[in-house]
Amino acid sequence: MTDQTAPWWTAATAYQIYPRSFQDSNGDGIGDIPGIISRLNHLSDLGVGFVWLSPVFASPMADNGYDISDYRDIAPEFGTLDDMDRLIAEAKGRNIGIVMDLVVNHTSDEHAWFHAACESRDNPMRDFYIWRDPGPDGGLPNDIQSNFGGPAWTFHEPTGQYYFHLFDPKQPDLNWENPRVRAEVYAMMNWWFDRGVAGFRMDVIDLIGKEPDRGITADGPKLHDYLQEMHQETLAHRDVVTVGECWSATPENALLYCGRDRNELSMVFQFSHVMAGWDETLGKWTRKPVALPVLKHSLARWQEVCAEDGWNSLFWGNHDLPRAVSKYGDDSPEHRVDSARCLATALHLMKGTPYIYQGEEIGMTNVVFERIDQFRDVETLNFHRIQTAQGLSTEDFLAGANLNGRDNARTPMQWSDAEHAGFTTGTPWIEVNPNYRQINVASDRASQDSVMARYKALATLRRNDDLIRIGDFVPFDLDHPQIMAYARRLGSQQITVICNLSSQSVTYDVPQDLRLSGVCAFTGRIIDVASQETLAPWEDIVVTG
Ligand code: GLC
Ligand code: CA
Repeated sequence: MTDQTAPWWTAATAYQIYPRSFQDSNGDGIGDIPGIISRLNHLSDLGVGFVWLSPVFASPMADNGYDISDYRDIAPEFGTLDDMDRLIAEAKGRNIGIVMDLVVNHTSDEHAWFHAACESRDNPMRDFYIWRDPGPDGGLPNDIQSNFGGPAWTFHEPTGQYYFHLFDPKQPDLNWENPRVRAEVYAMMNWWFDRGVAGFRMDVIDLIGKEPDRGITADGPKLHDYLQEMHQETLAHRDVVTVGECWSATPENALLYCGRDRNELSMVFQFSHVMAGWDETLGKWTRKPVALPVLKHSLARWQEVCAEDGWNSLFWGNHDLPRAVSKYGDDSPEHRVDSARCLATALHLMKGTPYIYQGEEIGMTNVVFERIDQFRDVETLNFHRIQTAQGLSTEDFLAGANLNGRDNARTPMQWSDAEHAGFTTGTPWIEVNPNYRQINVASDRASQDSVMARYKALATLRRNDDLIRIGDFVPFDLDHPQIMAYARRLGSQQITVICNLSSQSVTYDVPQDLRLSGVCAFTGRIIDVASQETLAPWEDIVVTG
């Protein structure tokens, strides 16, 4: 049973591709668009409804493509515009939409707009960016810090002013107060829509309303004016999906973005469950285990917020985060498969659009790098410089980077046990995780009990069953330290989900409302959920009735 009136993306499972690390087609060690095309069958086999493709635009790659020098061209190492058109068409032929990454908080400093802006103070494009005179002491205009470490201001010698950048100095922030900037962005979006893209994931979009002079960066006063204008100029009347990356989103302001009548976005990525695992002062560079109840309360709160209005995104990982199984599961050989499957179940049966980050579908793990020169990520390298200068030992820094650094997600996709995991015939731009001989797509494909088989089953359920798609979410025992339990309900139908998210077995007193006689959603076997159930480590019980 599927409700025909709801948007298509509410029945879809999304998949994120980080192009540099997905599949290389020409042996230069860098993933590319022809490589992606050659792997589309993997995605249709998984049951993916749309792909969020991290940036493939022209870029000097200071931040692996999140620094764009031409929004209407493709980086040569990734391919050509023809390749991109072919990807869109080939994906469409498999009922897969391609969602591009809209990186418009900033451009590259090698974008033509920035070159023009640097020419002189009265260049017509000067105001495309944010410039300020030195402060009264001749130094920085103020003390706003960049997310990649160091001041958010860089001095431009020839014109005697500072420009503003919330990320690397090579990523100058666009000035959204300038209507010409906004018009350029909307025109570019429409240009891509006309080429057939299915939507946009919007990079740090909650930063575009910044007011640096007042110290406001995220969630600025004009943010929602801009998003509504953008909707009006680009999204209205198009059947597309949008998801805004919003680190500042809270349960209180979520519906401002994705409420039905707001005319802004389809959904946001919010990060409260991610930041629950970050240290208050040292951030993500130090270990802070997240207790399961904290995680569950956070997820449940978002389910509650979007129960009647709005829509949730569901994710454990992305290209900026550690691997799901290493962060939330148990990546030891004994528990890796079970924990990856159990995490998938727990997440994908909630209400919202689930996002699989490449490799998550086979339970890829964090990588352990022993030397700083194995890392490639600009953020990691910057913070290494900054924190070791402040006295931290490289060894301690590496421990944090191995836990939470962004390169964990960026080691190449593990396709097979062939050399370099089948990712490339050349030398990969970043080392392949040495565990590829055990963990790879080919071996998962061969097994019915694999992590991949579970992801596939979950995508099928969502596509075909309104209960999974729009059923009410009802959580139980949020304070239980090992069990995540909930029901989804639609009319007289219920699905009971009980997951042991721990490496110890547990005997669970099942609440009355979760006891059900029905069919196991994965095996089709008849199951009676009793008043007490003993679950092995990372075991789940999923019954519909
Ligand atoms: C987002 C991206 C991240 C990038 C940053 C700057 O957080 O996900 O990869 O570095 O924005 O564009
Ligand atoms: Ca290549």
